[in-house]
Amino acid sequence: MALSRRAMITGLSMSFLTTPAKAGAGVVPRPDGTPEQVARDEEFWRAVARQFKVSPDFVNLENGYFGSMPEPVRLAYHRHVDVLNEQNSRLLRTSYKKQAEEIAARVGALLGVSGEEIALTRGGTEALQNLITGYRRLAPGDVVMYSDLDYHSGQYAMKWLIGRRGVRVERLVIPEPATRRAVLDVYAKALSSTPRLRLLLVSHMNNRTGLVLPVREIIAMARERNVDVIVDAAHSWGHLDFTIPDLDADFGVFSLHKWIGAPLGSGFLHIRKSRLADVDPVFADETYPASDIRSRVHSGTMDVAPVLSVGTALDFHNALGAPAKEARLRYLRDRWVHQVRDLPNVEILTPEDPSMYGAITAFRITGRTTEADNQAIVDRLFERHRIFTVRRGGVSGGDCVRVTPALFTSRDDVDLFARALREIALG
Ligand SMILES: Cc1ncc(COP(=O)(O)O)c(C=O)c1O
Repeated sequence: MALSRRAMITGLSMSFLTTPAKAGAGVVPRPDGTPEQVARDEEFWRAVARQFKVSPDFVNLENGYFGSMPEPVRLAYHRHVDVLNEQNSRLLRTSYKKQAEEIAARVGALLGVSGEEIALTRGGTEALQNLITGYRRLAPGDVVMYSDLDYHSGQYAMKWLIGRRGVRVERLVIPEPATRRAVLDVYAKALSSTPRLRLLLVSHMNNRTGLVLPVREIIAMARERNVDVIVDAAHSWGHLDFTIPDLDADFGVFSLHKWIGAPLGSGFLHIRKSRLADVDPVFADETYPASDIRSRVHSGTMDVAPVLSVGTALDFHNALGAPAKEARLRYLRDRWVHQVRDLPNVEILTPEDPSMYGAITAFRITGRTTEADNQAIVDRLFERHRIFTVRRGGVSGGDCVRVTPALFTSRDDVDLFARALREIALG
């Protein structure tokens, strides 16, 4: 008997939705409709939220550090920890290599590239560090560039190149307000006015304000000048619906423990096959031949339970579907932003261009630009409203407060936050 959409999420099948114990189960059937319609179906998202065992003690709007695992993934992870402990090196010496290859192949297929262009890492940071420090087309006097909004460990690795490769580092400032045109103009100017520029780090979605950059256009402009781009997609993949060919990227950094919902300790890097020789094997690794991308990552003996759980996380991601996830996350951001954006002293640090944001958006109260100012706002949100957010620094325009809903965030949660922010802004 075919169940109606409502019956599927409200009726007899409810027990299925709330008992995600079996492997691969617990995935909520997605209702019919466009991604935007699904995004507004609060009943469906309540069912999705039940897949996350998160603290009821506070409203977590700080999901930009890492993503909580949905129940199927948490349970798979626990199982993999047990199996790893039971089998010990037998697992690592026999089945693990093949399982890791299968994960890389699945990740590659979702991203529109070959698994041979994917090397698993313990997260985005390891991917950033290995790509930046291994990038070999640099000569003394060349210039590498990042922006004020790039991730701090990416910035550090770029500065590390000064001593190691004799390069100069330049930092560009992403303009506020950050329109598409203004961003492209800043990159165009940097490219045309920096003749020795060889390498650009570009965050697809940065961790400070949440701004999404027009990466494809930036890569195209850079390529015309023989400048390579490392795309930091740690926050964007699993959050926004795109593939690597959509970006036309040669080098990419990804995290699986953010928006894919895999356990902490999972990520990967991507190098286009034809560009592999432009990145050194890490620490002169000889475990794999230089023609194998796995020689660009050597993490040593590590916890492989997170990697082994990635398949379940990808199942959950696919069941919801990237377009519905993206639409829901953007809807939650729009919902609070549209309640406060007209307040004269509230600066929203992502523009009203849907191609330039997802769930993450930072705000600033005009004139309150210091660390102390913004920490005070974060503290007040928590103490008075039990809403958890985070202060972010490093933005040229001043510190701000970052707000990041998750798949388990409700419309009521973001409405509560919007009311609290109005009170702060008007008070
Ligand atoms: C934009 C960006 N890049 C890279 C990273 C590093 O990723 P990971 O936490 O997986 O090491 C982060 C982490 O927050 C990030 O926000």
